[in-house]
Amino acid sequence: MDLLTYTPQAKFAQQHLLCLQDYTPDEILQILSLAAKLKLQRRLGMDQTHVLAGKNIAMIFSKPSMRTRVSFEAGIEQLGGHALFISDAEIGLGTRESVHDVANVLSRFVDGIMIRTFRQSDVEGLAKYGHIPVINGLTDDYHPCQVLADMLTLYEHKGRLAGAKLAFVGDGNNMANSLMIICSKLGVDVSIATPADYAPQEKYVVWARRNAVASGAKVTITTSLEEALAGADAVYTDVWASMGMEAEAEKRARDFAAYQVNARVMSLAKPDAIFMHCLPAHRGSEVTDEVMDGAQSVVFDEAENRLHAQKAVLAMLMGKL
Ligand code: CP
Ligand code: NVA
Repeated sequence: MDLLTYTPQAKFAQQHLLCLQDYTPDEILQILSLAAKLKLQRRLGMDQTHVLAGKNIAMIFSKPSMRTRVSFEAGIEQLGGHALFISDAEIGLGTRESVHDVANVLSRFVDGIMIRTFRQSDVEGLAKYGHIPVINGLTDDYHPCQVLADMLTLYEHKGRLAGAKLAFVGDGNNMANSLMIICSKLGVDVSIATPADYAPQEKYVVWARRNAVASGAKVTITTSLEEALAGADAVYTDVWASMGMEAEAEKRARDFAAYQVNARVMSLAKPDAIFMHCLPAHRGSEVTDEVMDGAQSVVFDEAENRLHAQKAVLAMLMGKL
């Protein structure tokens, strides 16, 4: 499968990006294919400003961000649109004003919403009550934009998706959930290694196993690093205490100590395995400097691919191609 020449199997029917479990494998591949094309066009210096010309997109943040904010803002501008940054401290989603009313008012002003927040139900509420596309820029449950960028990165480095194996080490968090979903949809074998008390919620494992029946992927949930990393083409980790869990950071540092990705842990995967991290990384905790800065690390390619993947999402949901 060549992403640049991928032929869609059916019409792209999505109106929002809330959770990739709502997407077919074909719809995900359509986004990845467009991302690869937009990336190439940009390398060639081609103008892309017709795609979102005249469109305004509201970006709501109730958690901190560097990559998501900057890559969306830059990507929207590159496509000819305009991005409005709004802190949730101003909106007060669900406190100062109901999700229903915020969704209806924003729908009168702008053409789309990108939101980073805590509750997935707030993102779903904006989509339900509003009349414009809503994009999930991270919730406690999912980070779909990140894993789209990650699949593009895996493809670029390994030349394939189906048949590759990705091992996630650490907390069974929003990244683990989204990686399980997208890998199992695309036929990428996925293993999740966590301490016993930090496994992903059963609901997401059930989805992944169901997706895997259709795609042929293998889904492994384990506490064993050896089992998870055997034969892995990619080793992925993330912070041990996600945004909103800072109070648990000290306890988690103890509980996760054996799950640090260091050179010894990397050696459990294939010799040419890539190292992946959504960033921001806590160097010296979940990953060592030698791995972050080593030859196998592709973390900055992942960060760059946020830009291209999200431009593809924006173009598919609200653009003119
Ligand atoms: N990976 C990611 O979403 O980074 P930010 O939190 O900086 O947006
Ligand atoms: N799991 C992390 C991802 C950050 C991009 C968090 O939610 O804080």
